[in-house]
Amino acid sequence: MKFSSLGQRLSGGSGIEHLMDDLGNALSATGPSPLMLGGGNPAHIPEMERVWGERLRDILKEPATLRRTLAIYDPPRGNARVIEDLAALLRQEYGWQVGPENIAVTPGGQTAFYFLFNLFGGRRADGSMGRIMFPLMPEYIGYANQCLEEGMFTAQRPRISRTRPHRFKYNIDFENLNPGSDVAALCVSRPTNPSGNVIPDSELQRLAALAKDRQIPLIIDNAYGWPFPGIVFGEATPIWNEQTVHVMSLSKFGLPGTRTAFVVAPPEIAKAVSSMMAVTGLANGNFGQSIAGPLIADGRITRLSREVIRPYYLQKRNAAMEAVEEFFPDHVPYAFHESEGALFLWLWLEGSLKSSRQIYDDLKKRGVLVVPGEYFFFGDDDPDWKHRHECLRISFAMADADVRAGIKIIGEEIAKAY
Ligand SMILES: Cc1ncc(COP(=O)(O)O)c(C=O)c1O
Repeated sequence: MKFSSLGQRLSGGSGIEHLMDDLGNALSATGPSPLMLGGGNPAHIPEMERVWGERLRDILKEPATLRRTLAIYDPPRGNARVIEDLAALLRQEYGWQVGPENIAVTPGGQTAFYFLFNLFGGRRADGSMGRIMFPLMPEYIGYANQCLEEGMFTAQRPRISRTRPHRFKYNIDFENLNPGSDVAALCVSRPTNPSGNVIPDSELQRLAALAKDRQIPLIIDNAYGWPFPGIVFGEATPIWNEQTVHVMSLSKFGLPGTRTAFVVAPPEIAKAVSSMMAVTGLANGNFGQSIAGPLIADGRITRLSREVIRPYYLQKRNAAMEAVEEFFPDHVPYAFHESEGALFLWLWLEGSLKSSRQIYDDLKKRGVLVVPGEYFFFGDDDPDWKHRHECLRISFAMADADVRAGIKIIGEEIAKAY
């Protein structure tokens, strides 16, 4: 059987798919279960699980809602009531001038990015290539294989500054950020997966100004950001103008199994996304919107984010950093990215004698699973950039005791890498 070149690209496997297989196989192997500090699954927060239980019971009690959830196709754009309510929430919380015409539902953020990247990137009518630019590498691995045409992504390395002993931060290198006429959109995750960076308001404003100047969209991935789930430990003001496209997912709010996200964008883009949804999927699943709809309507979605989800992850982040202080040898020149949001610690081992891949293998042998950092550096092919082989992503979403045990072993292994 012969697959097309596009078919081969989409089905040929990706680095992260192999890695996920590796993690899955490690899990199913006999022996003690590994400490899973690799995946991006959100934590199971008891208070949120109570909310899901309540919502499901309410849906079962209301025959009309049950029928709408299970037995009716929504329009491709999503449930009109939920979209109205989200627009009202954004007007009320942030003063954004948005209405239902600005919103389209997608089956998770991942699909939203697939639509958006291929809406703007790729071969244009004049034969030139439109590219998606990531102004701050490293970026979310899930973007890496989403382009339908080769060479659609381009990326900018960060400025790296040492902020205090054993800590660093990435900033956008505006001096070298110079998107040409080939750049069709800018995209950032905020907070960033993998680094836990939160692009400061001042940098986001500069990016927005750049996008406006070039008349291209600035796509902002709020998978961990505001208004939900709000896993942001410092200050980060959401912005809106006629150039911004936000993707807001229910996954890290606690509902990854419902595959639901919202694109909030200028009407032309929201309309295009809902048309792409109709072609590829007919309609969205209704479950996530049914569960979250009333929480959006009465504002509980932002209150739960502020009062339950954010404090929960902040406590877990603090517990993980305490374990680092306790177990990491001070003489090793390790450095963590300042942890400003999301579920991860991003460890940089500058000048390490072992690559992140080798350290990943050593850790796997000891029953600790993390993610080697090289997968998060795409759109920049320079093999000589050593930083890309010196980082590891460690999730702190698992049980505190597992995170602590894993960090102890990581501390022992990094001492052997110098
Ligand atoms: C930064 C980022 N964006 C998007 C996604 C996609 O999430 P979903 O498709 O579940 O909304 C993830 C998932 O981990 C993520 O970390």
